Amino acid sequence: MRTMGKQDNIYESGNLSGLPFAFNKEVTEVFEDMIDRSVPGYKTSLSLISLFAKQYYQEGTNCYDLGCSLGASSLSVLKSIPSARVIGIDNSKAMIEECLSRFETLITNQSLSFLCEDIMKSEIRNASFITVNYLVQFLDLAQRDNLFKKIHKALLPGGILLMSEKVHYENSYESNRIFKTHHKFKSVNGYSQLEISSKRDSLEGVLITESEDDHFLRGRRVGFERSAKVLSNLNFRTLIFFK
Ligand SMILES: C[S@@+](CC[C@H](N)C(=O)[O-])C[C@H]1O[C@@H](n2cnc3c(N)ncnc32)[C@H](O)[C@@H]1O
Repeated sequence: MRTMGKQDNIYESGNLSGLPFAFNKEVTEVFEDMIDRSVPGYKTSLSLISLFAKQYYQEGTNCYDLGCSLGASSLSVLKSIPSARVIGIDNSKAMIEECLSRFETLITNQSLSFLCEDIMKSEIRNASFITVNYLVQFLDLAQRDNLFKKIHKALLPGGILLMSEKVHYENSYESNRIFKTHHKFKSVNGYSQLEISSKRDSLEGVLITESEDDHFLRGRRVGFERSAKVLSNLNFRTLIFFK
């Protein structure tokens, strides 16, 4: 498998502030470095995908990685269950093109497939394990219940949804405190103040967080029987929903 490993310096000059963030070719080229330096616990969330897939994947069923980007979550599933049938879906042409070239062998062996689609229009079915790693935050608020309903319907009894998201707190003092700590996290990882603030501007209105409770309530609303928090790292969470 080939990786690009290019360093994220997209916002270094600050001349991109004002432009809305998009998962285009430029972001695709630096994506691994960007997500690793910006999302506390990202690698742990991938390890949890391996662990939970091993526990809940049912042979002969489908496993979906919705908003797959460069297929890191898909690969985490295959690491623990090489026999799994994994389908990664993303609406970024640049991301899917890169997946198709990186994972050529796994695709030929039919363990993995990638679709360039809007997940709100994709057909998902016969699933025992669905992972949605840092995607819901990029959907319109009005679409989120529909996505959850769709996931719930596609899951077989005993199946699970594993979701990672950035969250906010209802309490503004707490939100501000965690915001500052997250800012420090990025700064320690080599981003300058200018890069951090330019990226924040470009994500304005594109990345819309909800609270942890909002996600749990949505799970209950669409019919998930149980849910739990399995990872909490600053303002990022991984939640599990059981059908
Ligand atoms: C933060 S990235 C996901 C990271 C990835 N899951 C991982 O674990 O490395 C969000 C991805 O969601 C995709 N996306 C956003 N809205 C989408 C939609 N409506 N349908 C399909 N993909 C979407 C973006 O193109 C982007 O690649």
